[in-house]
Amino acid sequence: MSWISQEGLAAKPEVSPGEVGQALDLAAKLVVRNLPAFTGRFPKAYSEGGFYAATENVDWTTGFWTGEVWLAYEHTGKEELLKAGQVQMDSFLKRIEGKQDVETHDLGFLYSPSCVAGYKLTGSQVGRKAALMAAGQLAGRYHEKGEFIQAWGPLGAPGNYRLIIDCLLNLPLLYWASEETGQGRYRAVAEKHIHTALSHVVRDDFSTWHTFFFDPETGKPSHGATCQGYRDGSAWARGQAWGIYGTAIGYRYTKREGYLPVFEGVTDYFLRHLPKDLVPFWDLEFGDGDRQPRDSSSAAIAACGMLEMARYLDGERAGHYRGMAKRLVKSLVDSYAVKDPAVSNGLLLHSTYSNHSPFNTCNHYGVDECNIWGDYFYMEALTRLQKDWQVYW
Ligand code: GLY
Repeated sequence: MSWISQEGLAAKPEVSPGEVGQALDLAAKLVVRNLPAFTGRFPKAYSEGGFYAATENVDWTTGFWTGEVWLAYEHTGKEELLKAGQVQMDSFLKRIEGKQDVETHDLGFLYSPSCVAGYKLTGSQVGRKAALMAAGQLAGRYHEKGEFIQAWGPLGAPGNYRLIIDCLLNLPLLYWASEETGQGRYRAVAEKHIHTALSHVVRDDFSTWHTFFFDPETGKPSHGATCQGYRDGSAWARGQAWGIYGTAIGYRYTKREGYLPVFEGVTDYFLRHLPKDLVPFWDLEFGDGDRQPRDSSSAAIAACGMLEMARYLDGERAGHYRGMAKRLVKSLVDSYAVKDPAVSNGLLLHSTYSNHSPFNTCNHYGVDECNIWGDYFYMEALTRLQKDWQVYW
C-alpha cells in the first residue's frame, strides 16, 4: 500500500478552463435528460449497476438532486430546470410541514442546496419558508449538555448521544437563517456546535473521527468511534472531506482564525493519503496496491472545500489549494465522470456510500456506484472553477 508523494502530487496536471466548460456542459445536459424521471420524484441515494431508481422525498440525500437542477439552471438558463426546481421546493415544503423523515440533523444537506439555493436564485418564498422551518427543526436537536447537535436517532437516546463530522455541512442552514431573520439563536447553535465538533473529532495528526460520543448525564466528552470508516482510529475518506469543507465553510461565516490551521491540517492529511490518481479509496488507510473501492465523492467534496477556503487565504496559500483542487477535478473529469448516458444516469462513477468492514457494523450499500452527493459536489466544483459562484451553503 502506498500514497502519492508530494512531488508526484505537484507534478499532476490541473484541469483547464476549456475542460471545465466542456465537463459542465455535459453535466448540465445529463441533468436535463433526467428531468422526466426525477421531477415529482427524486433519485435514490445511490445507483445500482450505475442507475438510480426513483424515490419519494425521503432520506438525507434528496436535496442534492435539486442542487444539481439549480446548478444546471445557473449554467444554461433553461426554463424547464427552473420549473423542476420549483416543483421540488414544493415537495420540500410539504416534507417539513408534514414532519416527514426530518428527525435527523441532515436538514442542512436537505434544505441548503434545494430551498436556500432556490430562494437565493429566484427569490422563491416557498424555498425561504421551507428552509426556515428546517432550520428551526435542526436547531431543536441541539443539546446544552455537551453543546452539540445530535446527529441520529431519537433526541437524547443514550446510544446516540453523539455528533458526527458530516454535520459541519448542516450548519450553513443555521447561519443563513440568522442572516435572513435577524435572530441570533440559529447562529449561536451553529457556533457552539462547530466549536465542540472541531475540539473533539480532529486528532493530533489531523486525521478525524467520524463520530464522537458525549455522556448524556454530564455532557462530558466520552470517546470517538467510526460508523462508515474502516476501523476506529482510521480516517474515513468522506469524513475527512466533510472536515475540509466544514472548516472552510465555518471560516466563511465566523472568520475565526483558529479554523485556519485546522483546515490546513485536515486538508494536508487528506492530500498526503491520496493514491496516484488523486481519488481516494473509501478509507484513507488504503493506498495504491490495496484492492479497495474508491470514494470519488470525497475528492469532489474536498475540491469544493479547498476552493471555498482559497477565497480567504493570501495569494500563495490560495494558489496552492486552488491548484490542488484543480488537480483532483482533472482526475474526476478525465476518469470518473459519466460520458455516456447508456452507462449510468448519474454524473460521477466509483463512489462509495458505506462499505462493510470487519471492524465495524456499518451497512453495505452504494459501493463503487454513483452517489447523489458525489454528482452534486462534482458539479459544484466545476461551477466554482468556472465563475465566482454564490454559494448555496
Ligand atoms: N452524511 C452521510 C455520508 O456522508 O455518508
